[in-house]
Amino acid sequence: MSLLSAIMDLLLFNIGELATLSSGDVSKPLSGTEMSNREKLIMDPGYSILTSKGKIAKIGPEEELLEEFAPDMESGKSNLIEIIDVNGAALIPGLVDCHTHLLWSGDRSNEIRLRQNGLTYQDISNQGGGIAKTVNSTRNASRKELESIGNRNLSQSSHYGTTTIEAKSGYGLSVDSEIKILQATSSLNGIRQNVLSTWLGAHDFPKDKTSSEYMDELIHEQLPLIAENDLAKWIDVFCEPGWFNLEQTETLVKNAKGFGLKSRLHVDEFVDSGGLSLAAELGSCSADHVGFSNSDSRDKANKSGTMQVFLPGTPYVLGKDLGDGIKECLDNNWNFSLATDFNPNCQTLSLPFVGSLATHRIGIDPLTALVACTRNPASSLNAELENCVGSIHVGGPADFNILNSKLVDYWCQTPGSSPISKTFFSGSIVKS
Ligand code: NIG
Ligand code: FE
Repeated sequence: MSLLSAIMDLLLFNIGELATLSSGDVSKPLSGTEMSNREKLIMDPGYSILTSKGKIAKIGPEEELLEEFAPDMESGKSNLIEIIDVNGAALIPGLVDCHTHLLWSGDRSNEIRLRQNGLTYQDISNQGGGIAKTVNSTRNASRKELESIGNRNLSQSSHYGTTTIEAKSGYGLSVDSEIKILQATSSLNGIRQNVLSTWLGAHDFPKDKTSSEYMDELIHEQLPLIAENDLAKWIDVFCEPGWFNLEQTETLVKNAKGFGLKSRLHVDEFVDSGGLSLAAELGSCSADHVGFSNSDSRDKANKSGTMQVFLPGTPYVLGKDLGDGIKECLDNNWNFSLATDFNPNCQTLSLPFVGSLATHRIGIDPLTALVACTRNPASSLNAELENCVGSIHVGGPADFNILNSKLVDYWCQTPGSSPISKTFFSGSIVKS
């Protein structure tokens, strides 16, 4: 029996607000005021959902679905279908976290004191802290240890409602260690979430190699092995002055393209170095951080279909301003997404917390923030998935969250705790 046919069909009734987010072509992102259009994105209470074999089979008026599929409600269950009373709670799609550094070992909690004493991210890195420190501890961890760390991290992410997550390597910086991280990552795919890997060998230069030696290793050793063994869907590069420059980034992305790997890039996190503009020219699927990117580059990225991904958790933990980039995108109808950037500095896998930063601190509407954590990031990942995630639509995967509230807006209004009572991934409960 296949795994999917073992999944019980479900009928959910007594649903509060239902955020399907499924207007128009669900594979495409939304922008500007489309993102907060409640009439188009949220169904009023009174609708039921039927799932079958892990997919959404029907969405329709509750009375009709109950009559057709659950004429004998008393039993609550039959051999064929499980009937779930949602008790008036709101439903939202499974959340989609499109930027995480999921797998690493070690602890850099001490760096907060260094920052409070006036050191910058760059200063800490120059002193042997930062990425290099995590690389040492991650190189020393076995694949088994990394799998167990990853499993713990994914359980956190699931606790906060994420059903599709992107996971970068980047704390190995050697052939064996990068492969170890990517193999551990792929073993975690499909347990509670879709886990999609990105190769970030170009996260930093290892201390034991010159930059040209490491560029050679990336292009001639890591890349071919990773591509030929299908260990990653994308290449990522930390394109920032002091790390990989524009020329090195372009070389890496073009070589990866030759192996069929698309790109998602770290750009313009600390300064505007032209990273977003380059990502647009290279046709990257996404350009992430983009805190300091200029308006022309944002416009160019939007035209080329490069998703701008804001990571407000990072400036938050670094004690920096969250910037105006998100508002600028909204005002100009430029597509954007939000993600956690989970890493040793920014230790959150909670998209609801990121939604809280976006609503409570940046001032965007909760529904807009929800679209930026579901359908929009999904549009930059869907090509690598069997089904289109990020919305609730017939034929799509039965990935959704039941909230602890009747209102969709609640999804990002509980900073510090999870707003979610139950999470379904492919029609099965993964958090309850
Ligand atoms: O996206 N800035 C580059 N990479 C990570 C942080 C890496 C680290 O500090 O360990 C980021 O913020
Ligand atoms: Fe990152």
